[in-house]
Amino acid sequence: MAGQKWKIEELTVGKALEAVFWPNPQKDSKHKLRATHLDGRRAPKVVLSTDKRIVAGAPCMVRITAINKPERDDRGSIEVEYVGRAPFRIEGVYLDPVISKKLQVLLESGLNILLDGPQGCGKTVLARAIATTLGMEFVFFNCGAVVEATDFFATIQVRASQSGSPVTDFVKTDVLLALEDAHEHPEKRYLVFLDELNRCQETARNALMPALDSTRKVFHPIENRFIEIPANVQFVAAVNRGSQFSATFGIDAAQLDRFAPLQMTYLPPEEEVKLLQGRHEELPTSLVEHCVAVADAIRNSDDLPASLSVRATEEACIYLKHPLFSGDTSTLPEVLKSSFCGRFSGRWYDVGSDAGAVWALVKKVLRQRKINVPDDR
Ligand SMILES: Nc1ncnc2c1ncn2[C@@H]1O[C@H](COP(=O)(O)OP(=O)(O)OP(=O)(O)O)[C@@H](O)[C@H]1O
Ligand SMILES: [Mg+2]
Repeated sequence: MAGQKWKIEELTVGKALEAVFWPNPQKDSKHKLRATHLDGRRAPKVVLSTDKRIVAGAPCMVRITAINKPERDDRGSIEVEYVGRAPFRIEGVYLDPVISKKLQVLLESGLNILLDGPQGCGKTVLARAIATTLGMEFVFFNCGAVVEATDFFATIQVRASQSGSPVTDFVKTDVLLALEDAHEHPEKRYLVFLDELNRCQETARNALMPALDSTRKVFHPIENRFIEIPANVQFVAAVNRGSQFSATFGIDAAQLDRFAPLQMTYLPPEEEVKLLQGRHEELPTSLVEHCVAVADAIRNSDDLPASLSVRATEEACIYLKHPLFSGDTSTLPEVLKSSFCGRFSGRWYDVGSDAGAVWALVKKVLRQRKINVPDDR
């Protein structure tokens, strides 16, 4: 159904559907809000409302009050009234119910959001899914590549001119292009995702500070002037904080304060099993459960300095379903030696190292689950 267009005969006055409204770009219209989709399907006419209870950008349930036929200078419209808040769902991503509620409030308010959580807990995938679900333009920016303050907005490239002499070109980054675009398209919404925000130097990050507070301005390094950040741009950033992330730089209190922080953790084991089963249907559920149970024990171990991402459990599934591996429990210990122990310092056979401690935990959990693990030679 999704992606299909509604036929006008399918829509009748009184029908209740889900929609996301944005300010109507037709400024002189009495209808201040406009939507283009109903229940995820494209509407045959523009959907309009004057109902003040509708919050722009927040999915809501609406009821059709009128279907206006096209007239000479008008292509017709569907008028609706507010029924209630729609359940907040981010497709393809598991979200803790409390975090989900907080996220909904922050997205509606337009505040900058900071997703803070261990590696591979779904921060990047969540940011992308928010944009897709809410129909926002997704602008991905990897802050790890930023060295100087201006790198957020432009990069300098040197090329040879026809005569062979060096010419310096400024190339706009996707962030700057999106800010410019957002001015031209007030009807669109932009989610600028600043991934790995604390992997760039703090001094470079300072360039972003006025963008993130009420000043909402940034310096355009090519045009040498400040440009405003329009209201249809929302910033979401992601960080891993903690001593184990050696390539990160601290986020100072003033920078942190410009974001509403949301702490994320790994999905609960039963949800991780569902996620992996959905992606690797050919694997027996019990095998996926064993992998996730071991990962869960590693994540909950106080003695280990780092954690284990969902990428690690997914990698184990990729091995296990391959014909070169048996796809049963006999190869599980071998697979986890690389997919789990290999993500920690040292070697699995070195009992004094972190990898060795993980191997001891792998053996313990697998044996508790009645899986035969041969003794180490
Ligand atoms: N809650 C979740 N829902 C759906 N997929 C998830 C979830 N958590 C992790 N994953 C999966 O785990 C993998 C890693 O996720 P992602 O890249 O979003 O992690 P991250 O938190 O951004 O990690 P990093 O801090 O290393 O950048 C992806 O394949 C993603 O689909
Ligand atoms: Mg990430």
